[in-house]
Amino acid sequence: YSFPGQFRNGLSKLGVSEEVLEFLFKWMGGPEDYPRIPEAKGTIGAIRSEAFFIPLYRLYLIYGGIFRLSFGPKSLLIVSDPLIAKRILKDNSKAYSKGILAEILDFVMGKGLIPADGEIWRVRRRAIVPALHQKFVAKMISMFGEATDRLCKKLDAAASDGEDVEMESLFSRLTLDIIGKAVFNYDFDSLKVDTGIVEAVYTVLREAEDRSVAPIPFWEIPIWKDISPKQKSVNAALKLVNETLDNLIAICKRMVDEEELQFHEEYMNEQDPSILHFLLASGDDVSSKQLRDDLMTMLIAGHETSAAVLTWTFYLLSKEPNVMAKLQNEVDSVLGDRFPVIDDMKKLKYTSRVINESLRLYPQPPILIRRSLEEDTLGKYRIKRGEDIFISVWNLHRCPSHWEDADKFNPERWPLDGPNPNETNQNFSYLPFGGGPRKCIGDMFASFETVVAVAMLVRRFDFQMALGAPPVEMTTGATIHTTEGLKMTVTRRRQPPIIPTLETPTVKIDSSINIPSVKTVSGQTDEVSSARS
Ligand code: HEM
Repeated sequence: YSFPGQFRNGLSKLGVSEEVLEFLFKWMGGPEDYPRIPEAKGTIGAIRSEAFFIPLYRLYLIYGGIFRLSFGPKSLLIVSDPLIAKRILKDNSKAYSKGILAEILDFVMGKGLIPADGEIWRVRRRAIVPALHQKFVAKMISMFGEATDRLCKKLDAAASDGEDVEMESLFSRLTLDIIGKAVFNYDFDSLKVDTGIVEAVYTVLREAEDRSVAPIPFWEIPIWKDISPKQKSVNAALKLVNETLDNLIAICKRMVDEEELQFHEEYMNEQDPSILHFLLASGDDVSSKQLRDDLMTMLIAGHETSAAVLTWTFYLLSKEPNVMAKLQNEVDSVLGDRFPVIDDMKKLKYTSRVINESLRLYPQPPILIRRSLEEDTLGKYRIKRGEDIFISVWNLHRCPSHWEDADKFNPERWPLDGPNPNETNQNFSYLPFGGGPRKCIGDMFASFETVVAVAMLVRRFDFQMALGAPPVEMTTGATIHTTEGLKMTVTRRRQPPIIPTLETPTVKIDSSINIPSVKTVSGQTDEVSSARS
């Protein structure tokens, strides 16, 4: 490409800031001085025939860390380069919005924290993040244990009856029960019963997933949206979920009004430690749509993601008996037969590495979506305002030149005495919870939730793929699902846990575990992720 393009690139590498470069090059030439972004030849049809991030991986191997995928008048930029991902998510995050994602999720999340942009996002992030403070997360650990214990009882019965179990749907129910309690103190009890509300939550979730992979926005077609039976059932489900939310908000508001507790930084009501309770006590407006949007957002964000992590972790463990043996060994010696407490989180190092590695191979979601709000320079390329961008975390996490044996499930790649891997210490080659100011607010919560669930399950049971189980293939909505479930044979472990212990499951907070009391809008989550190192 042309001299000015090369020159600019060189200056950029020398550390000259974008603002200065912008000013200088205004006088030297237009965008024609930049190289053209490689254009992949492909059709949307090819992309829709399988989980869509798979063909994107093949195209990445041909076209590299940034390329354009065009279909008709529209095009997408596919980003798989860590430094470009860092620029979009962190260094120049102000220049990007959630774009298509906000449009797709509007019907269920409105202006909730995931789709929101600009000032609304800033204000709400500031209000919500402090709710996930140290005392809250510690309290949640016993709740994770109680919920997983209910799942253990179910598996125990299946093991006695010699029945195979479909683990994906059980994990989905486990994490629904957990997130319901954590966000608004509601016990879906979905591991035991199928109530109308559980069905309604699933209808809404499925719709969100369908919309995120739909080629055209069928839900916007005027008459269709009123007469289609599916859209009618989605609307009915949304109504039920919203009414339930209204009830929960009213109940919680009464509790807040009656309690004597003063609001402070680590405020928590012991009977109802939920995020909703914190928000109402901090002065959130009960009647606002914003509060409902944020609650729905957290319900969805914290449900299918954690379920998918557990599903793929158990799939991977079933393929690697050596990893499973090492994991069980650690869990036996750290936990014995008691419930996990917060102190155990830093001791269950190998268990954490198993989750880290599962998130590398199966990132949830596999793609992050953004739209440029202004012109920007990505690597050596110039992009316009209004570009829709897919950052493929799948590609970043499986890059063959970055990761040794990239497709292998190898928790040992993360040394036990090294830091807990996160986007900062892996320089944006590893993005399990995103990065920059829009990073996941539930990263610590979700890490502990999955560690507790995995530890308690492998301590009690062995898991094998069931004989004659359908092959485990991937399909996507927002997260990676299996096409036909994860059918497993669950057997009680022959050897009972060896280390007996008299410790009771009380919540202890170890001051050496640095869970920050999160207050700021940006920058805080970096610390949160690395806190367990
Ligand atoms: C954002 C992953 C659990 C709430 C994100 C993002 C990722 C992610 C990758 C960044 C999205 C983007 O940049 O576009 C995960 C994974 C989880 C998990 C893998 C489980 C293993 C949770 C939980 C909660 C939660 C339990 C709720 C307490 C959120 C919210 C955002 C978010 C509200 C949006 C933050 C913002 O835009 O400011 N999550 N998440 N997540 N997550 Fe999570």
